Amino acid sequence: MINYLYILASLSLFHTALGAVAFAPSENQNGTHAPLPVADIVNRGTVVEEIVNISNRTHFAIILPKSNRTTVAASKAPSGTRVFYSHDSTTDSQYKLPEDFFTTSSASNQGGKRNKGFVQLTGCINMARAPQLKATDKGGVYHSQSSGLNDMNLQGSRCEGYNHFVECVQPITSQFAMRCCNDDEDCPSPSDNQKCSDLLKGDYGACAEDRK
Ligand SMILES: *[C@@H]1O[C@H](CO)[C@@H](O)[C@H](O)[C@H]1NC(C)=O
Ligand SMILES: *[C@@H]1O[C@H](CO)[C@@H](O)[C@H](O)[C@H]1NC(C)=O
Ligand SMILES: *[C@@H]1O[C@H](CO)[C@@H](O)[C@H](O)[C@H]1NC(C)=O
Ligand SMILES: *[C@@H]1O[C@H](CO)[C@@H](O)[C@H](O)[C@H]1NC(C)=O
Repeated sequence: MINYLYILASLSLFHTALGAVAFAPSENQNGTHAPLPVADIVNRGTVVEEIVNISNRTHFAIILPKSNRTTVAASKAPSGTRVFYSHDSTTDSQYKLPEDFFTTSSASNQGGKRNKGFVQLTGCINMARAPQLKATDKGGVYHSQSSGLNDMNLQGSRCEGYNHFVECVQPITSQFAMRCCNDDEDCPSPSDNQKCSDLLKGDYGACAEDRK
């Protein structure tokens, strides 16, 4: 019992420390870090279940920051994101994206490395129509699996019909890619200095060559 509690406490402290560094480095001007609620940390993955999907290039649901003018990194705090969709829904019409959210977009189905199949949506975000994003943000990745602390809040997320997904959003280059896959090798996360298009090959239309 004692050991168990000790492990739990250590994990909580570990996550709290990293969480404070990753998400809220300067929130507390008085030099203390308000501890995140333990339940949020331990269960962060189950706090939000966000379901994305790709039917085709005009029918899809993607994750974006919940509040306006937010960087992708900042949106990775608990409850910092939500699903926005391309088409009308009976609920939450406020989360419908404008038809010109992408200047160009393309959807495709491919076999993948071990032929387990994936579907992807790639394109170029029309930043003038994306109030959720910040034009100077170099962006980042949302992933359905925890591959590091920054992904923890999305552990409960999934892509309809597939085992995994990766979504790369880079406002500064306008590049966007979301790939839903069955084999996790088909859903790699571009690193900080990679373009979405470097790792998630596809049709990026107008921003294909963007090297900002
Ligand atoms: C320090 O900041 C934390 C978090 O904002 C706050 O809860 C706490 O009351 C502050 N302490 C003082 C002494 O201002
Ligand atoms: C896109 O997918 C939606 C939902 O499945 C479907 O209603 C629509 O007809 C599709 N559009 C095209 C162009 O295939
Ligand atoms: C995709 O997600 C949206 C938003 O949650 C939902 O309205 C739509 O029915 C889903 N489409 C499919 C094909 O799962
Ligand atoms: C974000 O900005 C859009 C466009 O200006 C506005 O319609 C929407 O209400 C804003 N959303 C939030 C959460 O403030």
